[in-house]
Amino acid sequence: MSRGRFITLEGGEGVGKSTQVQALADSLRARGIDVVETREPGGSEGAERIRELLLTGDESRWGARAEALLFAAARSDHVDKVIRPSLESGKWVLSDRFVDSSLAYQGGGGGLGVEVVRAINAFGIGEWFPDRTLVLSLDEGAERARTRDSDGSDRIGGRDADYHRKVDLAFRLIAAEEPERVRLIDASGDPEEVTRRLLDAIAELLP
Ligand code: TYD
Repeated sequence: MSRGRFITLEGGEGVGKSTQVQALADSLRARGIDVVETREPGGSEGAERIRELLLTGDESRWGARAEALLFAAARSDHVDKVIRPSLESGKWVLSDRFVDSSLAYQGGGGGLGVEVVRAINAFGIGEWFPDRTLVLSLDEGAERARTRDSDGSDRIGGRDADYHRKVDLAFRLIAAEEPERVRLIDASGDPEEVTRRLLDAIAELLP
């Protein structure tokens, strides 16, 4: 049995990611691929418990390092319980966010630095890095999200515009550093057109 492919979708707030995860999963299924759709933070029972801890409560509930370690712990459980077994059984895994969110948010936005966050995550993930990471990017994304977040968002989504600008910048840097794995996808325009861009960016992985 050959391993399935591991695809992750990433992006800042308000780029239409949820819609695209669903559309991409549907397109892959229509091609006969067995797809496991999952998300972070969460995706396994233990990781969903940690999600609650991370996304609720006051800003001061966790410091930057504890927050990064909690994301990494949740991710490690998600890999162990869901991602690795699925890939080993030949299924494809499509995850709404994965390690690059930690690199961009905790590393970039939170100021810990991408390399430190990469190192703590490498311990938790082992060899299970994505085959391809699609970063949806939209210039007005932060603006739209801020409007949306003003009526009460989670602990991280609700952070200020400066934080989210650093997140977006970090995603661009990661894409520039790892052009083979990480692709920046223009999230503007018709959602069906965006889905076509995503499919183009994984074309050579398709059966
Ligand atoms: P969620 O409600 O899943 O948001 P979205 O629809 O934007 O994906 O909330 C997840 C929040 O957690 C989001 O603001 C991004 C943030 N996050 C991190 O800061 N680091 C991480 O490693 C992950 C996976 C998410």
